[in-house]
Amino acid sequence: MKRIKFNILAIVIITFLFSGISFAHPPAISDEMGAYIKRDGLMHLIRAQRYILQEMLVGKRELDQKELIRAAKALSAMFAMIPSTFENSAMVDMSRAKPEIWENWDDFVAQADELRKISDEIAAMGEIYGAEAAIEKVRLFNCGACHGPYRK
Ligand code: HEC
Repeated sequence: MKRIKFNILAIVIITFLFSGISFAHPPAISDEMGAYIKRDGLMHLIRAQRYILQEMLVGKRELDQKELIRAAKALSAMFAMIPSTFENSAMVDMSRAKPEIWENWDDFVAQADELRKISDEIAAMGEIYGAEAAIEKVRLFNCGACHGPYRK
């Protein structure tokens, strides 16, 4: 009797394993949602690094050469990721991206590149002349120049 029960259990398990039913896959994220999550995620990462530099600028955080260079380099890499991250124009309601991004793509990319260059300059100045000389350049970050025309 025990043996029969065991066999039935084994058959149920094997049938289940080969049935293709799976609970391992998370619910699918739509293309639209995926595109938005990428854009929004990159922007929040940018904000976090810019915040570190901003705090150094206003004296809320100790001026630290290594940390300044690291944050500036991180920002440079992230601004360079804007074109590939925004390439997908798929839209969801909660996105603040304006259609103008894809209508004026070259200008949009140029705005991102402008901030990438400033980040590189901050990192280079920090490396050569130190944090005190470089920190004033943080004022040049004008996120609004892009948010104005391209964010709702
Ligand atoms: C090249 C254009 C561009 C630049 C440069 C840019 N942003 Fe954005 N940002 C956008 C767009 C477009 C969105 C909306 C994306 C969406 O919702 O799909 C956005 C969204 C955000 C968000 C998400 C939350 C919100 O309010 O929508 C934050 C935070 C953010 N940006 C911070 C910054 C900061 C800080 C800087 C400058 C250091 C910056 N961005 C520079 C285009 C830009």
